[in-house]
Amino acid sequence: MDTSHLMFRDGLMAGERILITGGGTGLGKEMAEGFLKLGAEIHICGRRGGVCEETARELMAAHGGKVVPHACDIRVADAITDMNDKIWSEHGPLTGLVNNAAGNFISRTEDLSVRGFDAIANIVFRGTFYMTHDIGTRWIREGLRGNVCSILTTWVWNGGPFVVPSAMSKAGVNVMTQSLAVEWGPKGLRFNAIAPGPFPTEGMTKRLAPQAKSTEEMGTERTTPNPMGRIGKMHEFVNLATFLMGPGAEYVNGQTIAIDGAMYNASGGNFSGLAAWGDAEWQAAKEAIMATNNKDKADRTV
Ligand code: HXC
Ligand code: NAP
Repeated sequence: MDTSHLMFRDGLMAGERILITGGGTGLGKEMAEGFLKLGAEIHICGRRGGVCEETARELMAAHGGKVVPHACDIRVADAITDMNDKIWSEHGPLTGLVNNAAGNFISRTEDLSVRGFDAIANIVFRGTFYMTHDIGTRWIREGLRGNVCSILTTWVWNGGPFVVPSAMSKAGVNVMTQSLAVEWGPKGLRFNAIAPGPFPTEGMTKRLAPQAKSTEEMGTERTTPNPMGRIGKMHEFVNLATFLMGPGAEYVNGQTIAIDGAMYNASGGNFSGLAAWGDAEWQAAKEAIMATNNKDKADRTV
């Protein structure tokens, strides 16, 4: 990311200790860099422990500060508790959580197995709740303030054809955001969410546009046009995340904010165009996605 476009003053996030799930790659890594540069202590987790370690090393080499990697599978509630026990005892209480980890792939819904649905729902719907619940109850027990931002999609408002398990799960997290903002607001916790349009990352491109040759091509190949004629820039996304996770805008609570160049307003911003695909395209996509899944799986340490 070109950090010269970050909007906020140096030191804004000093004193913040923020866990970013899935922070070893993609948008999570971008937020980690942005928050670190503004003085926050960062914790990142993922199933590929080595990827998180490498990201932590890279970001600290570039910006100094403290980035702590954790190998943790958010589908496993006990693993979440163990990680958070470690964070609390070795570093201190978190001040913020970004629910960024997710799984997704394009598929015709009639081609999904129950395990295929669960592969996504167990990460996005259940894992996000387990993490939020574990950290939220710690904050309440200890009388601490806390701040949660979940990374969703614009499909929570208009549906996600060909990504139904993701759209359903993200919609559930959207409702969690609205519900807990009210229920836990009086206890000092706040909950917001971001619904990004296309900010192509490797993890997303390889599963949502497996036919694209590069992340840039994924941006231009999206099946629905964007009124701004381009994909998102990482610093734009990180600036919005900083606004929600940094101090100064605490009265924003219970909101899901889109950052998509008005794409979903204009044209749905989803994969409805894939209705044009036939069996051959779907078979090729599935093979490419599974090759990516297997490659990433080989790097998992938990
Ligand atoms: C049909 C598929 C499939 C495909 C997997 N499955 N890929 N079914 N089409 N393309 C099925 C498998 O056949 C299997 O079912 C089941 O899913 C579980 O597969 P596993 O490989 O064992 O899953 P698992 O190891 O749990 O991995 C989870 C995953 C994987 C979600 C499948 O992709 C992953 O780990 N992803 C993490 C990173 C990621 O997805 N990033 C993208 C986020 S982007 P059977 O019945 O055969 O056993 C994003 C974008 C939002 O969210 C918006 C963009 C605008
Ligand atoms: P990504 O790089 O694939 O990020 C997903 C991250 O989640 C990976 O680091 C992955 O690490 C982690 N993860 C997945 N399952 C996990 C589990 N069970 N436990 C712990 N960590 C897990 O993709 P991305 O594009 O940056 O996506 C980040 C977030 O933005 C997601 O919520 C996505 O839905 C959302 N989003 C992205 C876009 C976009 O255009 N990029 C648009 C809208 C929304 P491991 O595999 O090592 O576990």
